[in-house]
Amino acid sequence: MEEIIDIHVHILPEVDDGSPSLEESLKMLENAEEEGIVEMLCVSHYIKGLYEPAKSTLEKLTRELQPHTRIKLHPGFEVMADPDFSEEEYRKFSINETYLLLEFPHFSLNPVVLEIFKKMNLSVVLVHAERYPSLIKNLALMQELKKHNFLFQLNAGSLLENPSFISLVKNGIIDIIASDAHSFRPFNMRRAYEMVKKKLGLWKARELFYENPKKILKEER
Ligand SMILES: [Fe+2]
Repeated sequence: MEEIIDIHVHILPEVDDGSPSLEESLKMLENAEEEGIVEMLCVSHYIKGLYEPAKSTLEKLTRELQPHTRIKLHPGFEVMADPDFSEEEYRKFSINETYLLLEFPHFSLNPVVLEIFKKMNLSVVLVHAERYPSLIKNLALMQELKKHNFLFQLNAGSLLENPSFISLVKNGIIDIIASDAHSFRPFNMRRAYEMVKKKLGLWKARELFYENPKKILKEER
């Protein structure tokens, strides 16, 4: 089975809305192994006033899960954009001081906040980019953001539910496909991988499900 790297998994127990217990987390790990996932970024939401886990907590929970699986685990954050955060604060949430998994409130991109991110010396990975209706209708904006170090992540389940998203993959807008798995949302990675492979070829599937995710975990731009 061809290997997959998943950079967006809410699997750490009792830290956000991902997994309510260690038992659930272990079940999710089993499912991930069955799908051929070999490496994953175990993220927690960071939403001010709602989920504010310390980095050391995510590191500890990841260390505790590791002995239960062959999958290589990394801790990380998925951060809700907040106008009060400084670049230095965002840097603390980044993966390898380079990539920032980011979402915006109400699935809308505030143009003022976007300008701030464009100037930052961090690569923004906009997670589940397909959830921003005004963005995916505006290819020019997506292209422009790509020039400013933005990467776009599509959820595997969204691609399966709405096959028309394959056009965003085909035209090179989407950089990464990930699961955004929670205990209530399955990985769907293997089925999405096979779909991309069938429609766009093996190399495209490798790029989106392995090569580009690997760069994020390996500190390469
Ligand atoms: Fe998420």
